[in-house]
Amino acid sequence: MKTLVIGANGQIGRQFCALAAEAQLPIRAMVRNTGQTPWFSERGIETVIADLEGDFRQAAEGCDEILFTAGSGPTTGADKTLLIDLLGAIRSIDLADAMAMRRFIMVSALRAEDPMQAPEALRPYAAAKHAADRILRQSATPHLILKPGKLTDEPASGRITTRPATVSHITVSRGNVALALLVAAKQPLIGNTEVELLDGGDPVEHLFS
Ligand SMILES: NC(=O)c1ccc[n+]([C@@H]2O[C@H](COP(=O)([O-])OP(=O)(O)OC[C@H]3O[C@@H](n4cnc5c(N)ncnc54)[C@H](OP(=O)(O)O)[C@@H]3O)[C@@H](O)[C@H]2O)c1
Repeated sequence: MKTLVIGANGQIGRQFCALAAEAQLPIRAMVRNTGQTPWFSERGIETVIADLEGDFRQAAEGCDEILFTAGSGPTTGADKTLLIDLLGAIRSIDLADAMAMRRFIMVSALRAEDPMQAPEALRPYAAAKHAADRILRQSATPHLILKPGKLTDEPASGRITTRPATVSHITVSRGNVALALLVAAKQPLIGNTEVELLDGGDPVEHLFS
């Protein structure tokens, strides 16, 4: 079972790819240019160069699932939010459907189900995540929607909670998100699932319990 990691060169993407390589999970890192490939090659990770704004179908050939952790980031405008966070995600879901993939793992966002509750500046982003999640739920591909809170660069603690109401913060480290993605990737047979994710007190291995 090979996983195409879309957004592999991102902060979560790289941490997940390193963990997956250590665990000897078969992955293919989709990156945007040749300058990004050495980091992966040095770790024995297969790469493919493709862009969500182009034709990236060939990047998925031979893959059984997609892990989508791409994002347009906070420095671009609503145009890229539409083209990457929304349309890029939709086209990735369509590709998984067309290839009858076994699973789609979406890195979504906490509270994406209610974009109008987000701070005004974040509403276009929250709306894009919201719509992509809805389309994934209606797709033919089995899926996991992981909904992390506000991301931090704190070291991975390996301790999380999937019950935001039990804590008073809304943050989760990118390292803990990568660990949660590893737990998910190691369990290829779970059905449609949605999990909220914050730093907490539970071992990340208990993600689905
Ligand atoms: N920030 C938050 O608080 C927050 C909260 C919840 C969820 N999330 C989600 O978490 C995920 C990843 O976060 P992160 O911190 O790892 O983000 P990141 O470091 O900005 O990584 C995003 C990745 O997406 C890639 N990307 C952008 N445009 C692309 C395109 N046209 N084609 C292919 N790849 C493209 C980037 O490629 P390059 O490396 O080439 O630039 C980068 O590798 C995103 O889905 C984000 O929406 C974020």
